[in-house]
Amino acid sequence: MDDMGNLTGKTALVTGASRGIGRAIAERLAADGAQVIVHYASNEALAKEVVDAIGGGAYAVRAAFEDGVDELFDGLRGERLDIVVNNAAILGGRLGTITPADFDRVFAVNVRAPYFVIERALPLMNDGGRIINISSAVVRIALPDVVYSMTKGALDTLGFTLAPLLGERNITVNTVSPGVTETDMNSWLRDDPTGGSQVTSLTALGRIGRPSDIADAVSLLASDDARWITGHVLDVTGGYFLGPEGGVVP
Ligand SMILES: NC(=O)c1ccc[n+]([C@@H]2O[C@H](COP(=O)([O-])OP(=O)(O)OC[C@H]3O[C@@H](n4cnc5c(N)ncnc54)[C@H](OP(=O)(O)O)[C@@H]3O)[C@@H](O)[C@H]2O)c1
Repeated sequence: MDDMGNLTGKTALVTGASRGIGRAIAERLAADGAQVIVHYASNEALAKEVVDAIGGGAYAVRAAFEDGVDELFDGLRGERLDIVVNNAAILGGRLGTITPADFDRVFAVNVRAPYFVIERALPLMNDGGRIINISSAVVRIALPDVVYSMTKGALDTLGFTLAPLLGERNITVNTVSPGVTETDMNSWLRDDPTGGSQVTSLTALGRIGRPSDIADAVSLLASDDARWITGHVLDVTGGYFLGPEGGVVP
């Protein structure tokens, strides 16, 4: 065996890779040997930091997905793509607090952008490639941010609907659903330690998720070992909210 990573020679596009889970995915795919294109919306300094940290021909591309995905594709440097990870997303707000414009913005970033990223990426992708969409456990757990949850339901549908269409090119389409993970999206975890303990008590493996927990699952789906997995939604939550705390006593 040589010491090359299993993704050596592959190129990965990771959206929302300046922070949180996306950053961990970019780091992990780079550690596996891939060249990684680090997309971000506004945090240029953080995106550059990720690029410098992972090396391997990585570069950063800006695009605010409210405005579509053209800026992202205009920023690519002509390489073929092997792995596309739709990770960027934003929260909505509680019922009664968001306007129709807010609603459209959340759908634009969380649903419209992944759809058009895939459509634009497909002609650039090599056969045998991987599309991985980052959804959320909110598709099975009722939480107050209804619009955000609806966007993730749409993403799950996108995954299984697309898989049979891309099979002839041997491109797999899978979905990864994290549970509560330590990122800026969950800043309440830092401010409210009791919120965290409520989550851990409802998690089979008894802790909050780390970005690397999610990135390792993405790496698995990106690898050749996952060649026969497509149209699948993978729960990567440590067993979050599987039933009542302590189980049901008959
Ligand atoms: N954290 C969790 O507990 C959790 C749980 C389940 C699912 N997820 C999912 O995991 C993924 C990553 O979440 P995260 O917690 O790592 O998020 P995060 O820390 O808030 O990072 C969000 C990323 O998306 C980019 N982004 C923000 N607004 C954007 C826009 N308008 N257009 C394009 N890109 C934009 C950000 O770029 P800038 O840095 O430039 O702003 C950043 O790279 C999301 O799909 C999320 O729904 C997260």
